[in-house]
Amino acid sequence: MDITQLPTPALIVDFDKMKNNLREMQQRIDALELKLRPHTKAHKNPAIAQMQIDAGAQGICTAKLGEAEVMAAGGINDILITTPIAGKNKIQRLVKLYQQYPDYRFIQVIDHQQHVIDIAQAATEAGICIELMIEVESGQQRCGVEIGNDLVSLIEAINYSDGVSYVGLQAYSGHLQHIKGYQERNTQARTVVEDLFNYINTVLKPKGLAPDIISGGGTGTYAAYQGLGFSEIQAGSYLFMDTTYQAIGDENNQDQNNQFDVALKVLSTVISHPTPQRAVIDAGMKCLSIDLGMPKVEGDSTLSYKTGGDEHGIINLLDGHEPLQIGQQLILLPSHCDTTLNNFDTLYAIRGTEVIEQFPILGRGRSD
Ligand SMILES: Cc1ncc(COP(=O)(O)O)c(C=O)c1O
Repeated sequence: MDITQLPTPALIVDFDKMKNNLREMQQRIDALELKLRPHTKAHKNPAIAQMQIDAGAQGICTAKLGEAEVMAAGGINDILITTPIAGKNKIQRLVKLYQQYPDYRFIQVIDHQQHVIDIAQAATEAGICIELMIEVESGQQRCGVEIGNDLVSLIEAINYSDGVSYVGLQAYSGHLQHIKGYQERNTQARTVVEDLFNYINTVLKPKGLAPDIISGGGTGTYAAYQGLGFSEIQAGSYLFMDTTYQAIGDENNQDQNNQFDVALKVLSTVISHPTPQRAVIDAGMKCLSIDLGMPKVEGDSTLSYKTGGDEHGIINLLDGHEPLQIGQQLILLPSHCDTTLNNFDTLYAIRGTEVIEQFPILGRGRSD
């Protein structure tokens, strides 16, 4: 099938670029002598997760329990759930994952004594042992226990409780991923975890509480973590990229990140052209996420996108620009890949203009 036959708006990925990105990150992480545990909230599809594992990844991350259920059902057998869970429904579902897939590994991130109490109780009742990773504060001020006595108490609470085991620490500095300039970003990424590694060396190790796994890092910061003590990198967006990540700079260029190519795109159709300066496409906020800015129009930097609401996108044309044609397809480059992907049921893999594969976005909406 040719992309001209796709009903728009449609989510498309340049399959060869995606596969290059996948291999490129694995090679980069191998060269840093770290493990890659890719964050699959970027693609939400078990077949793509399997491609990452086949290329050398050590299991995967999911943001949410619902995504983990989808990945496990798709045969992915080593899953770190990177967001704490709370409440009976969630904890019972975590227990069920352990019961349903006894040979799989599930690690749940937590950051509070109450998590330990609740999860340990449910696990003990079910006769299982749930692996827990503690999220620590690493500059983002989101979840994460403060580094100090609270962290020690939390590790000890896990160690003293039946039904749970302590496997490591998660330190993800999400607020640093988009800092412009490679040196600046990497310096900040290392600085923000200095206290953590000092604490591990001076307090946790002597107490016998050193973590087996230290997990963190994203597409923007992974390169900072060589030799620091991290064992695995949780990057996700590198697979698809977006215009925000493209603009953070790399080791060779302050303004442009050429480590990975922008592969994820939204195919749209021109549905109206009320004035010579204004055309309208069928891709609005219900498919193109704009939390990190407006998408770009591929192949024509003189065309700019402005949101026209839920279902409309407004394309501004400079004076003298050739009019667009009603029915013409336009390709948009999203500013944020994760939130754009979550708006679609299907990802169409393309080569040139040919659709060569389709991936159902099975984890779509599984923020539960
Ligand atoms: C906990 C955690 N780890 C890893 C990532 C992946 O980061 P990125 O997609 O920027 O590579 C995210 C993204 O938000 C995250 O929340």
